[in-house]
Amino acid sequence: MSYKDDVKTFRVKETPVILAIETSCDETAVAVIKGGREILSDEIISSATQHAVYGGVVPEIASRAHTEAICTATDNAIRAAGITLSDIDAVAVTKGAGLLGALLVGVSFAKALAFSLDVPLVPVSHIRGHIAAAYLADKELEPPFICILASGGHTAIVNVKNYYDHEILGQTLDDAVGEAFDKVARVLGLSYPGGPNVEKLAAQGKNDIVFPHMLKNYKGSAYDFSYSGLKTAVINYMHTAEQKGEEINKADVAKSFQCAAIDVLIDKAFAAIKETGCKTLAVSGGVGANGYLREELKKRCEKEKVKLVLPSKRYCTDNAAMIGAEGYLQYLKRNFADLTLNAEAVVKL
Ligand code: KG4
Ligand code: ZN
Repeated sequence: MSYKDDVKTFRVKETPVILAIETSCDETAVAVIKGGREILSDEIISSATQHAVYGGVVPEIASRAHTEAICTATDNAIRAAGITLSDIDAVAVTKGAGLLGALLVGVSFAKALAFSLDVPLVPVSHIRGHIAAAYLADKELEPPFICILASGGHTAIVNVKNYYDHEILGQTLDDAVGEAFDKVARVLGLSYPGGPNVEKLAAQGKNDIVFPHMLKNYKGSAYDFSYSGLKTAVINYMHTAEQKGEEINKADVAKSFQCAAIDVLIDKAFAAIKETGCKTLAVSGGVGANGYLREELKKRCEKEKVKLVLPSKRYCTDNAAMIGAEGYLQYLKRNFADLTLNAEAVVKL
């Protein structure tokens, strides 16, 4: 019997041990997750410092770094989990979205591992993985809930109706919020990764520069975003001041930008909470690690009596545990792939 036939016959266990692999960007991450919510191990080997000198992720460097790190990360994850290869019931892997070359390393490795162990291969959407990090943060969490998805590639307000049905209430029409942080960081002369550095600088600044409010006369969904205009406004502000020879307080620019970028996320999430009547709010994606966002959300949720599910910073940014959490849900549905599985640079939200 070939692996292709196996896909139809694999037995689904109630509390599977899933080895999850994530290589969509610059982190080679491998985790072992039991029963969907228990993290047995969670390893990350990052190539971020190799990209820093170029001011952003260089896809070829990321792919090479994944190739070099994937065996070590997997060995470490298995050892730290206290399991052996034969304990693995399924292999989950990010199939997209992300950098194609980087994804291919994870997908190829996962295929080989699943094939050699004769266990199911479970393809996972990186975006759904981010949302599933909420299940690791709160072991009792059950849908429905509203989720702020705020990463380097995506920005959306999602109505998580049940474990599988996610309604996108609104999303960005252009740049993602994390991308805006990264681009503004560059203009401010801050190094990669931009988001955390903008946050650090903003801590010393005042929110006293008025940047334009996005989508003022826009007729689409009230939950849509546009970060391109905000980013351009910051760039124009910097250039105009430079041309006039005015001194720029970069910390004030960082703080004012951060407030403009984050406040709209919070406002739209709470508009969704009001409209849907949902009383739980989760945060996902790298920008969820932003301290200002986290503090503002805590205050607002307390005031409006909304339960806040805030994954720790490690589980907001890219990691493999979240891929294991979503992989578990797909495993239960028998969403298994055969060895023709390919990586996808873009996946539908
Ligand atoms: O989710 P993630 O790790 O990768 C993607 O799937 O994109 O998100 C990375 C993004 C980057 O744009 C990074 O600048 C941003 O998240 N980010 C932050 C912070 N930490 C990471 N943005 C603002 N404040 C932070 N503390
Ligand atoms: Zn991500």
